[in-house]
Amino acid sequence: MDTIEEQRYLTFALGKGRLAKQALAAFEKTGITCQEMKDKDTRKLIFVNEELKLKFFLAKGPDVPTYVEYGAADIGIVGKDTILEEARNIYEVLDLGFGKCRMCVCGPKEAEELLKHHELIRVATKYPRIAKNYFYNRKHQTVEIIKLNGSIELAPIVGLSEVIVDIVETGSTLRENGLHVLEEVCPLSARMVVNQVSMKMEHERITRLIQDLKEVL
Ligand code: PRP
Repeated sequence: MDTIEEQRYLTFALGKGRLAKQALAAFEKTGITCQEMKDKDTRKLIFVNEELKLKFFLAKGPDVPTYVEYGAADIGIVGKDTILEEARNIYEVLDLGFGKCRMCVCGPKEAEELLKHHELIRVATKYPRIAKNYFYNRKHQTVEIIKLNGSIELAPIVGLSEVIVDIVETGSTLRENGLHVLEEVCPLSARMVVNQVSMKMEHERITRLIQDLKEVL
């Protein structure tokens, strides 16, 4: 085995925001810390733990699988929604169990009939691949997918679409806007993903990390 001096840096891409914070809390329980990342006011994007030869960087969630596929990061922490939507060539190795929510088809109660009768409806979503896969391959229903970038719940309210495919966590956004879960597409949570070459080259370090995380989660 390499001595610590000879080890290369193992690089982590974390999706900015809540997932990154929860991931760091989990790492901390395994003895992996990154002091400089705890500074709330920092605008830095890369953080280093020299002692353990680790680097962490903060990326936009949907870009995490891209960094991992190209090997710019060995490991990524990202939501299952992003993994499904980005469909990158990466290994998904661990369900971290936090960031739990559901991908759902939502809309006003009246839209339920349209789903039952396989009508040609409009579906607004930030996740066109997931929505397309669900309607075309699982439900065998032809729909028109409309890509939006946020505040998806607006679409059925203002008449842009009949339903939406979106993340439901507490359900408050739906409730406050008079919408309902009509169908569940899949459960979601944070996952650890690994670059396919890194998994071979750094097999020992990465499998130990997965094992350590499993024990503390
Ligand atoms: C997400 C999601 C829903 C909401 C669900 O939006 O798209 O709108 O959270 O959470 P809830 O069930 O707890 O209400 P986000 O806050 O990420 O903003 P967005 O509108 O930019 O997608």
